[in-house]
Formats: sequence, C-alpha cells, structure tokens
Amino acid sequence: MSSLKGDLGGLMWSEKYRPSRLQDVVDQKEIITALTSLIRGSDVPHMLFAGPAGTGKTTTALCVARELLGDDWRRDTLDLNASDERGIKMVRERVKEFASVMKLTTDSSKQHDRPFRIIILDEADEMTPDAQTALRRIIEDSSKTTRFIFICNYLSQIIEPIQSRCAVFRFTRLPEEEVVDYLKMICEKEKVRYEERALSQIYSATMGDMRHSINILQTAAGMGSVSVATVASSIGLSGRARVGEVIRMALAGRFNESRAKLMELVQVYGMSETDFLRYANQEAYEMKLDRPDEFAELMAEYDYRLASGAHPEIQLAALLAQLGRIGLKSREAKAEKA
Ligand SMILES: Nc1ncnc2c1ncn2[C@@H]1O[C@H](COP(=O)(O)OP(=O)(O)OP(=O)(O)O)[C@@H](O)[C@H]1O
Ligand SMILES: [Mg+2]
Repeated sequence: MSSLKGDLGGLMWSEKYRPSRLQDVVDQKEIITALTSLIRGSDVPHMLFAGPAGTGKTTTALCVARELLGDDWRRDTLDLNASDERGIKMVRERVKEFASVMKLTTDSSKQHDRPFRIIILDEADEMTPDAQTALRRIIEDSSKTTRFIFICNYLSQIIEPIQSRCAVFRFTRLPEEEVVDYLKMICEKEKVRYEERALSQIYSATMGDMRHSINILQTAAGMGSVSVATVASSIGLSGRARVGEVIRMALAGRFNESRAKLMELVQVYGMSETDFLRYANQEAYEMKLDRPDEFAELMAEYDYRLASGAHPEIQLAALLAQLGRIGLKSREAKAEKA
C-alpha cells in the first residue's frame, strides 16, 4: 500500500496501531498462546508463519523478536524481504555479515541462554526452490546462534525440508467482530466520528485483512468522518492503489508476483475484470509512462477482448506479460541513452 502513503501525508494508522506485544495481537489466539510458551521455553525453534495478507504475521514476528531479545532487539534482528532482494547469495552474505558483527558486539552477553540473533525472512515463498534448498544449509550452519522466522502467504510454496525444520503457524483471516472492535478503538483514539454500519462495510470489502481495513478507515476519516459514503469512495481508491501496484510489478518484469496479486484482487476482493482495466487506465495515466501511446493501445485491445467474452483471467495475465515487455523495452532504451 505504499502508494497510499503519499496521499495520507502523515503517519499511516496501520503502522501506528501495529501491536508491539504478543498479548496485544488481535485474534490468532492459539498461535499467540503457543508462541508465548515456546519463547519462555529453553529451546526456541525456528518458526514459519503462513497465511493471508494483513493478519498479523510480520507483527507477530517483530513481537517475538522483541520479547526474546529485550530492549536491544533491533540490533540483533535482521529483517529481510526475500522477494525484494532476490537470491540466496544475498541471504548468505547478509547472514554472514550479520554473524560477524554479532561476534564483535555480543561476547559480553553470552551468558544468556537465548539465541543471539533472529533473522526474519519475509515473503519467503517468493524464493525459488533452489534458493530455499541452499538456505537449508545456512539454517543448519547457523543454528547454534540464530533463529529464523520465515513468513509466507502460501505454505505450499515452501519446500518440505524447511517446513520440517520449523514450528509452523497458520494465520487465518480475522473475524468481523474483532476487526470492527479494533477499528472502533482507533476511531476513539483518533477522535473520529463513525457509523457502525460503515465499519461492517469495511469488513465486507476486506474480509479479515486488518491492514487493508485500517487503510480504508484512515482514508475515509480523511474525508471528514467514517460514513457509508466515505467508506464506499475509500474502497474505490484503495482498489485503485492495488491495481497500480499490479501494474508497477508487471512493468518491472515481476510477472508471477503481479499475476498472483491480480488473482487475489479478482478472487479474494471480488474486483471485476473491467474495473481492473478501468483502474489500470487511471493509474497508468498518473504514472507518466515513457510510452503512454503503447499502453493506451494495449488497454483498448484488452478492453475489446473482455467485452467480446474472452476468458478474463487468461486475458489479464496476457496483458501483464505484455506490460512486462513494454517495461523491458523502456529500461533498455534508458540503458542505451546512459
Ligand atoms: N492480528 C492483528 N492484530 C492487530 N493488528 C493487526 C493484526 N494483523 C494485522 N494488523 C494490522 O495490520 C498491519 C499489518 O499487519 P502485518 O504486517 O502483521 O500483516 P502480515 O500478516 O504480515 O501481512 P502481509 O502478508 O501482507 O505481509 C499492522 O501494522 C496492524 O496495524
Ligand atoms: Mg508481512
């Protein structure tokens, strides 16, 4: 949701209201209970958190790090995004680098029986199986002093040998009552007026994704108060921001990711394919592409294909592939100029 950040100006509420203690994480009760006793135990396992977006996986990982490592937790926690910085080579280098710094800084604290560092590897399901296999070695080699917390959306994308080395926790979509209560708490703290119905409306649009719910709430609040009308237009805006993200990924050549996000928009959030095209058009216009003409032709072609009844998901995936080609061409053109 980075594109929303600019619109909102100040601090995003989804960050401001990120719980910092395990006991404050909403729902996910079994996971929180199990984790609380695990981290009190003498041998802390590696962990794997799987589940849908905005349900508390990253939040919980940060809470675990804080509770295991105490005040200095930031220093001893390495938070990597497997999908941003691809490849096992980088994980290996960063892990090694981190390990050598750790040797210098923690000799005096050896007396505690905790692992000395925690490596959070977010979006681990974006790593290739080869990279995951290589990672398995790194896990073994560093197990004396490091605990890994892997985070993913799809457990099935994590190779079995990694799964079997971890305590696996499956996060689930948050129930309506708990999301609505959390949104009310935020409204009260922020002194924002709200209609009860508008909060359920937010839930229907986000289906248990707390981050998305809070983002819609904040956008609506920015329009004066949280009413059925402001929520409806915020849902439109946030849908557009998500489409923008899909388009940006496709242009950057990240086809698989963009397609997965597209499917999520259509299947999970119920966005219609024609709305997708409409939002894509608006977003692209504001992105100031190098070749807006090519983009316009492409949109017209796919608009026509959808209107004539072609299979929408296949068509939109093809559109993303074409955008990847446009993106590549413009990167090549830039490289030539430079
Ligand atoms: N269980 C929860 N309790 C309270 N707040 C939550 C919870 N889950 C998500 N949030 C809110 O949503 C924001 C994002 O949550 P988080 O980063 O933990 O999601 P995630 O499960 O890691 O999602 P993604 O798969 O997109 O990375 C948090 O900053 C917090 O405001
Ligand atoms: Mg996360």
